[in-house]
Amino acid sequence: MQRTFILLKPDCVQRRLMGRVISRFEEKGLNIVAMKMLRITPELAKQHYAEHVEKSWYGALEAFITGGPVVAAIVEGLDAIRVVRNMLGATSGLDAPAGTIRGDFSGSRQMNLVHGSDGPEAAEREMALYFEESEICGYQPTITPWLRASDES
Ligand code: CDP
Ligand code: MG
Repeated sequence: MQRTFILLKPDCVQRRLMGRVISRFEEKGLNIVAMKMLRITPELAKQHYAEHVEKSWYGALEAFITGGPVVAAIVEGLDAIRVVRNMLGATSGLDAPAGTIRGDFSGSRQMNLVHGSDGPEAAEREMALYFEESEICGYQPTITPWLRASDES
């Protein structure tokens, strides 16, 4: 089992797509184990996007990501980091294939609706940035025997 961090960005909230996006993760069989709405401060944005702070487009990204409420969540599942990234599609909604979240709902490189951690180190760092250990509510869904075979783990 693996956990990854997702963030429904301000465009997702403003466009009333939160429910549809969360439904896609639920329908896939992923387990949501933490979730909260918050407003990202410029300080948090710089920590979250530390790898991009020096980029020419960082200022615009910070204005976007701090420009409205977001929803942070932790989802759990087999290979969850890779599975979620595949569900998001390429960074730009113009490149992401149809059938992915960005491919289906976004026509923008910046306003691409959802963030997902890009690897195990990023997942650990981002989960710790947004959540206390006590805010994570792990549980075993009763439907688990109907989501995968018992030897798939
Ligand atoms: O989110 P992802 O890992 O796919 O992309 P990234 O290259 O790590 O960039 C982080 C975020 O910055 C993207 O999801 C976009 O919202 C934004 N971005 C942007 O505003 N302009 C760019 N030229 C590239 C990315
Ligand atoms: Mg990235």
